[in-house]
Amino acid sequence: MGAINLGQGFPDFPMDPVLVELVAKAMRDGFNQYAPMPGHPPLLETLAEKIGYLYKLPVHPVSEITITPGGTYAIYTALSTILQPGDEVIVFEPAYDSYIPNILMNGAVPVTVPLDYPSYKINWEKAQKAKTSKTKAIVLNSPQNPTGAVLSESDIEELRKLVHDTNIFIVSDEVYDHIILDGKSHCSILRYPDLFERSFVCFSLGKVFHCTGWKLGYCVAPEPLTKEFRKFHQFNAFSCFTPTQVALATFLKEPQHYLSLPDFMQKKRDFFQELMSATRFRALPTHGSYFQIYSYEGISDEPDDVFAKTLVARCGVAAIPVSAFYQSGKDDKVLRFCFAKKKETIELAVEKLTKI
Ligand SMILES: Cc1ncc(COP(=O)(O)O)c(C=O)c1O
Repeated sequence: MGAINLGQGFPDFPMDPVLVELVAKAMRDGFNQYAPMPGHPPLLETLAEKIGYLYKLPVHPVSEITITPGGTYAIYTALSTILQPGDEVIVFEPAYDSYIPNILMNGAVPVTVPLDYPSYKINWEKAQKAKTSKTKAIVLNSPQNPTGAVLSESDIEELRKLVHDTNIFIVSDEVYDHIILDGKSHCSILRYPDLFERSFVCFSLGKVFHCTGWKLGYCVAPEPLTKEFRKFHQFNAFSCFTPTQVALATFLKEPQHYLSLPDFMQKKRDFFQELMSATRFRALPTHGSYFQIYSYEGISDEPDDVFAKTLVARCGVAAIPVSAFYQSGKDDKVLRFCFAKKKETIELAVEKLTKI
């Protein structure tokens, strides 16, 4: 009780007041009724411009982008659009917790492939072995939760080989697209037109603009896939909160608002890592997302879920055991810490962590 929460992935610092003001203005200006089902048209336009600017992919705003209530909803809707009972879906573990329940809810079968420890890179040989005639889709996540791993150009080459001559769909979770660190560039599926043809690419505006409670995201997919995606969306959420869409249509027109994010988050990650070097935890390589993972080998032999509780009891700091992101509960003695926090929160938490 009363522990500092570095477990859950949400910022504790305020979001940009300019964006807050734009939402308030949208409400005052009367944008308080249903938005069109695919999304507020000026926001769709702005997102298409942004995708063209960042990834050189010409995306049609009206027929290839759908605004959704969060990235998770976009992923679930994409999976529901393509899956039939008995289909298999390749998922890399440790994995964000919604993928496997979403696959099971569609009567399909998750086929899990472990990422290599401790690099958390995709083992493409294992992925190839997991592929069968029933493989309907592969779920990717870069930057990755919980590990902070990011895809590289060579991963994209391997992905190409994996899906070549198949009808496998790609569901790409890119909710941390602008939280990419260490000078890496984001290998969005939107950069690769040949892969985009078979993809649903899912984003979260709440994650990148420090307002996770907004639950606003979008899915980019080629027109025929978007058409099917919207058949689900039409009778599910139907449309999303209008004022935030109106605000973001303006806010996103200024590239600096998203181009400044890697630097902003890099400072937080580096500050956290620097302070943590005074503890007995060992940082594992991460290059994106809200998260830094640490090995506690040499501190305790307890299983990670038990050790996470010990940490709350003894230090008053909450972290997430990485075994929670595996179906099998694989335990490499690693904890996930969220560094998307105020300076004071990080300082206080790390001071407590030095005590173990
Ligand atoms: C990998 C990943 N995908 C999706 C989400 C959820 O995004 P949203 O809040 O927009 O639904 C999260 C949030 O933790 C996440 O870590």
